[in-house]
Amino acid sequence: MTLDVPAIRAAYPALADGYAYLDGAAGTQVPGSVIDAIGDAYRSGLGNAGGVFPASIRSTTVTEQCRRAVADLVGGVAEGVILGPNMTTLTYRLAGTLARSWGPGDEVVVSRLDHDANVRPWVQAAARAGATVRWAEVELPAGELPAGQYDSLLSERTVLVAVTAASNVLGTRPDVAEITAKARAVGALSYVDGVHATPHGPTDVAALGADFYATSAYKWSGPHVGAVIADPGLLESLHPDKLEPAPGAVPERFEQGTPPFADLAGVTAAVEHLASLAGPAAGTRRERVLASAHDHEQALFQVLLDGLGAIDQVTLYGKAPRRTATAYFTVAGRTPAEVASHLAERKVNVWNGHNYAWELTAVLGIRDIGSAVRAGLVHYNDRSDVDRLIAAVAELTA
Ligand SMILES: Cc1ncc(COP(=O)(O)O)c(C=O)c1O
Repeated sequence: MTLDVPAIRAAYPALADGYAYLDGAAGTQVPGSVIDAIGDAYRSGLGNAGGVFPASIRSTTVTEQCRRAVADLVGGVAEGVILGPNMTTLTYRLAGTLARSWGPGDEVVVSRLDHDANVRPWVQAAARAGATVRWAEVELPAGELPAGQYDSLLSERTVLVAVTAASNVLGTRPDVAEITAKARAVGALSYVDGVHATPHGPTDVAALGADFYATSAYKWSGPHVGAVIADPGLLESLHPDKLEPAPGAVPERFEQGTPPFADLAGVTAAVEHLASLAGPAAGTRRERVLASAHDHEQALFQVLLDGLGAIDQVTLYGKAPRRTATAYFTVAGRTPAEVASHLAERKVNVWNGHNYAWELTAVLGIRDIGSAVRAGLVHYNDRSDVDRLIAAVAELTA
């Protein structure tokens, strides 16, 4: 089934400003239904959770609904959904918790394809524990993370493998299932960064074999809320720092302080929105969610790649066969900042710089020269967004 992109775009108030929003990889816009859900939650009256009066009970209900929605989006069960401010905060929390059992001789494997939020928390936790860090390398020029290298990286000493489900600049989707299977075979846990991958198609944490899967709602049409999904049984075995009177049950004990209840209602609305993209199709929310975004994005991405690729002065980075609709490019004779500024003048939103792909931009040899420009597609982008990007880049080279 194809997406009704004009109808989808009409659902996003911000898109009416006439800009081409090709900055989705840094954060998407939100549909009116999400804005309404947040407003309605406040309008209906929210109390702090755990009380006996209706406003408090509403906050508890909103939280439970949010966990169920996230589980429908990525798989897993609501009882294993940890909610928090963003992926980085949650990853630091999990790294600190997991590292309590690490010591000298233990090994942690990170990758140079990853956003730094799935690298530094592990590197720093390992350093504190006296554990060793081993690096999975990116193969150029394709920008792939070959799964085969994990055979020599992993051993019975490995305690954790952190790997991304998709690079936030090259879009590369490594073979996560193969990597997590290798981790499991040596008794290591896997922590999969799904922040960039989640909005681009259906996700199944079980099929990925991820012990932990991290995602952020603001990348998929929701508010600024992060989530980590894990098996509740695994969470039961872990004991994060927490306040003495704070809930000791799973997953609450991984959540610090009072949650943004109204935003959690927005997260649920975002999942409903993603499930509605293909129209009033049959099936559960879990079956419908993001079912057709992938094909739409990939078809448009081909137009984008062909258009930019036809401009001699453009260098496109990465060409993994499995990747999200995310282009990372430079224009000869122009800094990435100049390109992004020119595009902004032409009402095209893109990012320039390393985008926290800190190790990867060094591997690409571009980190010290401003890195590159990132233009990414999500389900609400259309042909006119792409055409405008290509025309504006072509102007720079004329
Ligand atoms: C792949 C990836 N991982 C992690 C993060 C960090 O997520 P958050 O902003 O939720 O901490 C980002 C943010 O851009 C990202 O793209």
